[in-house]
Amino acid sequence: MSAEAFTALWAEIESIGRADGGGYLRYALTEPELVLRDWFRNQADRRDMPVTEDGNGNLFAWWGDPWGRNAVLTGSHFDSVPHGGGYDGPLGIVSAFLAVDQLRAAGHRPGRPIAIVAFVEEEGGRFGVPCLGSRLMTGAIEPAAAARLTDRDGVTFAEALGTEPAGRLPELQSRIGGLVELHIEQGRALDVPVGVASAIWPHGRWRFDFTGRGDHAGTTRMSDRNDPMLTFAYTVLAANKEARLAGAHATVARAEITPNATNAIPSLVRAWLDARAADTPTLETLVEAVIKRAEDRAGRDGTGVSVTPESVSAEVAFDTSFAQGIAKWLGGAPILPTGAGHDAGVLSALLPAAMLFVRNPTGVSHSPAEHAEDADCAAGVEALAAVLKELS
Ligand code: GLV
Ligand code: MN
Ligand code: MN
Repeated sequence: MSAEAFTALWAEIESIGRADGGGYLRYALTEPELVLRDWFRNQADRRDMPVTEDGNGNLFAWWGDPWGRNAVLTGSHFDSVPHGGGYDGPLGIVSAFLAVDQLRAAGHRPGRPIAIVAFVEEEGGRFGVPCLGSRLMTGAIEPAAAARLTDRDGVTFAEALGTEPAGRLPELQSRIGGLVELHIEQGRALDVPVGVASAIWPHGRWRFDFTGRGDHAGTTRMSDRNDPMLTFAYTVLAANKEARLAGAHATVARAEITPNATNAIPSLVRAWLDARAADTPTLETLVEAVIKRAEDRAGRDGTGVSVTPESVSAEVAFDTSFAQGIAKWLGGAPILPTGAGHDAGVLSALLPAAMLFVRNPTGVSHSPAEHAEDADCAAGVEALAAVLKELS
């Protein structure tokens, strides 16, 4: 496949949801993502691929019988983190359509259905729980709990979806034989156009509520304050330090302050810790250490802290022989782990799943600067087509 063919299809979606500053605002089930979902249906139509929706917000475009057995899934997600890059997610869907084109042009006739999937709310950027669509479909989250999740405007997931989510779909699941998700690589670990995933670090999100006494910034003596901002600030630094000591990753990148006024000591600081590590004991020890440091500091500040896990994703080891087989089909592609979460990781708990990574020259992701070269994306399509051909 030529880089030009990739460039042409990519151009159809490149501007959808792009904000000032170049990043994307493609929150799940909001206008730009709904436009992308329409685009998905149109692409499927153009290729005579019937589209089904699973009652959880996940879309499937079928090459072959939608009710056939042992289907191979490929695809990714359209939603972005706020002001994120354009490749994280959509690259896997665009590449899947192009891989189908390539296989058809070569006269391939799949011996099992191939379905292109667009998972809903992979980033958790709107409702807080990442991989919500794949978690629902596989029963990793209760539909009633997912239905109640709210976005920053108080809209529930069920309201956004227009229905209660269906939850686990044993019948659909029994008809899926495997999944291959293509994704932009999100670190600096890949120096050839295409690689294969070995594992996903365990990771999660913990909400910290730091409470104190709201008061006047001008009249409250320094010694009389119960300022939760101090406990929060200390905890951010402690998380960074503990992660460095553990060889893990900890990030506090989102906070809400009440009342968020320049001249008022806050009564509440709510912040989210994103923590990841190469193995589960390291992650658990890290999070415990951060919580302990936050509590100790709260004791000194006269503030309170409570911690709520909002989502925890277990360590994923992708099927080694599957990954090695793919690497071999691709002429010896490198096999590498990632610290980023993916729907393929959720599905891997139930069926053989694999991931292809496309080189990211700077390694930057979840940022407007995220980028992949068209030639590498075209190589990704070639690789995905080769894998789908082998599998089908
Ligand atoms: C998803 O991209 C995540 O790893 O947060
Ligand atoms: Mn992402
Ligand atoms: Mn992604």
